[in-house]
Amino acid sequence: MAAKVLFALCLLLVFIAESQATKVNNLFNVMNYGATADGKTENSAAFLKAWRDACNSNGNVTVMIPRGTYFLKQIVFNGPCRGWTNVIIDGDLIAPTDPSFATDKWISFRYVKNLIVSGQGKLDGQGSSAWEDCNKNHNCRPSFPISMTFDYVTNGYIHHLSSINSKGGHFKTYGCENIRFTNVKISAPGDSPNTDGIKISNSNGVAIERVNIGTGDDCIAIISGSKNVLISNVFCGPGHGISVGSLGRDDGEENVENIKVRNCTLSDTTNGLRIKSWARTLSKPLKASNFVYEDIVMNNVYNPIIIDQEYCPGGTCSNKDPSHVEISDVSFKNIRGSSNTQVAVNLKCSAKFPCKNITVNTIDLWQNRGVGKLSNLCSNVNGASYGKQNPSSCL
Ligand SMILES: *[C@@H]1O[C@H](CO)[C@@H](O)[C@H](O)[C@H]1NC(C)=O
Ligand SMILES: *[C@@H]1O[C@H](CO)[C@@H](O)[C@H](O)[C@H]1NC(C)=O
Ligand SMILES: *[C@@H]1O[C@H](CO)[C@@H](O)[C@H](O)[C@H]1NC(C)=O
Repeated sequence: MAAKVLFALCLLLVFIAESQATKVNNLFNVMNYGATADGKTENSAAFLKAWRDACNSNGNVTVMIPRGTYFLKQIVFNGPCRGWTNVIIDGDLIAPTDPSFATDKWISFRYVKNLIVSGQGKLDGQGSSAWEDCNKNHNCRPSFPISMTFDYVTNGYIHHLSSINSKGGHFKTYGCENIRFTNVKISAPGDSPNTDGIKISNSNGVAIERVNIGTGDDCIAIISGSKNVLISNVFCGPGHGISVGSLGRDDGEENVENIKVRNCTLSDTTNGLRIKSWARTLSKPLKASNFVYEDIVMNNVYNPIIIDQEYCPGGTCSNKDPSHVEISDVSFKNIRGSSNTQVAVNLKCSAKFPCKNITVNTIDLWQNRGVGKLSNLCSNVNGASYGKQNPSSCL
């Protein structure tokens, strides 16, 4: 009898200790909210309940998704929250395979200030069904979901997370301030359509450092309204390179300013460093200015350096319209490696708004086996070249 009472007391103590511990650490484990890590049961309700309790608590809080495989449909984690919110994703999250799952976002964080997302797990977008659909129907121009989006997040830090086989893009920021990605791993097959790695839009203060990206579209795409972006120690390949644009398709886009890309490697990509704008008229010109590209290695890259202001896929614009995007103050410095096409540096600017102050300093590109002698192409571009130029510069 005494033993039984003692045992019951012990249980009670353990129980109290545990509940104290969760309180003290402000830890909100999705398993305590009914999540099931069997890879089949849908978990968005459990995840949202854990998020809501964490978000409404004072101080720094952690939402924990422990190891295991969690099937998850669309989910939106809305702020504002009170303190810093840590989301630790140690489990693998898997998206529906059904191609009719065609929202524009899979997992989103919105209106959150002070957010950290990390973990050993991966986001598995299960993209192959969507890619097949898209490859069959060339007009698909999807709404295929981006695996993880940050909308109006201020002070966001995303680290040590992996994303594989997204249906649409892997990550996107929109309307964010001060957001940083480090040690993130992104992968999808080189021929998977529309799988941008990280897309930056209307955001100010974005850092992408030590990120490894292999995918089927742009490794990084910097579009309308991006300002103060730093990209360093990024490995890209396969993929379509590190791109600014496309810009200037529609009225209402915002300028892109102050982008630094440093110490990056591109391997087996269709483009290296690209700035791309539509051959279209806008009611008022858009500016793309102050870009610095420095210390970049190209391995087997099709268009190592390319400014393409004549972008007009699928005859959706008249190619005679010169682009209304004004590109200025762009410097390429210390770019070396191998090119897979003859035009190593291709600067095709707008006839109406020529590129201004483009500098190329120390370029050393050589042809891959089987590619003829390399050259440069310049049209409608003002600027200068310095240092070694291999192939010789057209500026
Ligand atoms: C909350 O987390 C942030 C970011 O990690 C940290 O700087 C801050 O010191 C933490 N605050 C408390 C009270 O622990
Ligand atoms: C540049 O990148 C290489 C790896 O590609 C790394 O070892 C080196 O530390 C980086 N340098 C800086 C200044 O970040
Ligand atoms: C030319 O562009 C560079 C950045 O690439 C900038 O530092 C410099 O001030 C610009 N020069 C002029 C004359 O605007």
